[in-house]
Amino acid sequence: MAARAPGQTSGPDAPHVPVLLRPLLKAVAPVSGVWLDGTFGAGGYARGLVEAGADRVIGVDQDPLAAEMAEGWIGGYEGRIDLRQGNFADLDEIAGEPLDGVVLDLGVSSMQLDLAERGFSFMKEGPLDMRMSQSGPTAADLVNGMEEGDLADVIFLYGEERASRRIARTIVRERAADPITTTLRLAGIVESCLPRAKPGQSHPATRTFQALRIAVNDEYGALAEGLMAAERALKPGGMLAVVTFHSVEDRMVKRFIQMRSGGAGRSNRYAPEAPEDAPRFAAVTRKAVGPDDEELAANPRARSARLRVARRTEAPAEKIDRKALGMPEFQGRLQ
Ligand SMILES: C[S@@+](CC[C@H](N)C(=O)[O-])C[C@H]1O[C@@H](n2cnc3c(N)ncnc32)[C@H](O)[C@@H]1O
Repeated sequence: MAARAPGQTSGPDAPHVPVLLRPLLKAVAPVSGVWLDGTFGAGGYARGLVEAGADRVIGVDQDPLAAEMAEGWIGGYEGRIDLRQGNFADLDEIAGEPLDGVVLDLGVSSMQLDLAERGFSFMKEGPLDMRMSQSGPTAADLVNGMEEGDLADVIFLYGEERASRRIARTIVRERAADPITTTLRLAGIVESCLPRAKPGQSHPATRTFQALRIAVNDEYGALAEGLMAAERALKPGGMLAVVTFHSVEDRMVKRFIQMRSGGAGRSNRYAPEAPEDAPRFAAVTRKAVGPDDEELAANPRARSARLRVARRTEAPAEKIDRKALGMPEFQGRLQ
């Protein structure tokens, strides 16, 4: 998630300060040529890249809200920022040209969270929606349509919620009386299954809402596909920079960079390097980069953001088994 500004007011017109932009620009410098920002949001990264020297930035966001929000300012970047609606899983096709850099800043934006009618927040009453693309099945479709066991698996796998079975059982009982269509009703149902949060602990519905959001938007699938699409799209020497917001995604990005830079997955480390083992990337950041003290002081919500950067080599792209990235994969039926 980006767009967490110091003293930020809520609502879609709030000012936005992108998370980890400064360390990102430092790690990918010097910036030139054509870049793709696969998570355009409020456009903070895209503008940062243009100002750092990119000739052109192709902005991609699956949410039509991004274009709406950019209406007031994007004209000033005519020919420099070109915004397209789509999923970064297909970023090579959306770009349609070789790229000098790809940036991804994963998750939902604070604008999306702040809009009650999008249904992402368990603090605001709204329809149980959670679709970033505003199309396809909603969270309410899942909550009211899935079998109890599948629902419990989603809540456990994607939310790491230990009370997943109890929550799924209660959801199934409650929906039999009346379909669950709003955020606060679901939040109340989850709360009724868990002990009250102690001061400093997250809201009891946090993990269940996260799980549903990840499932509705196929967030891990999109990340795995997006990383492979970036491998196909980047020119030799091109940069890949990814900012994650929770540990599963960071682990996926870490494993991808390790595997693709020859650090893991080589068929036999004693044999001469075979063409299929040739590194596709070289790691630029040795460890994940988090916010520095200044950014943290200005914006405490940046605390879990992690940046990893890698540089593309000349070896041809190759499809990999996304299971190797260690992503939890739900095997049941979503509806
Ligand atoms: C954290 S915000 C990015 C904020 C942006 N870096 C900025 O500076 O304003 C994430 C954005 O990525 C979009 N997004 C998330 N997953 C996506 C995907 N798979 N394809 C395209 N857009 C996606 C969301 O709709 C949201 O607008």
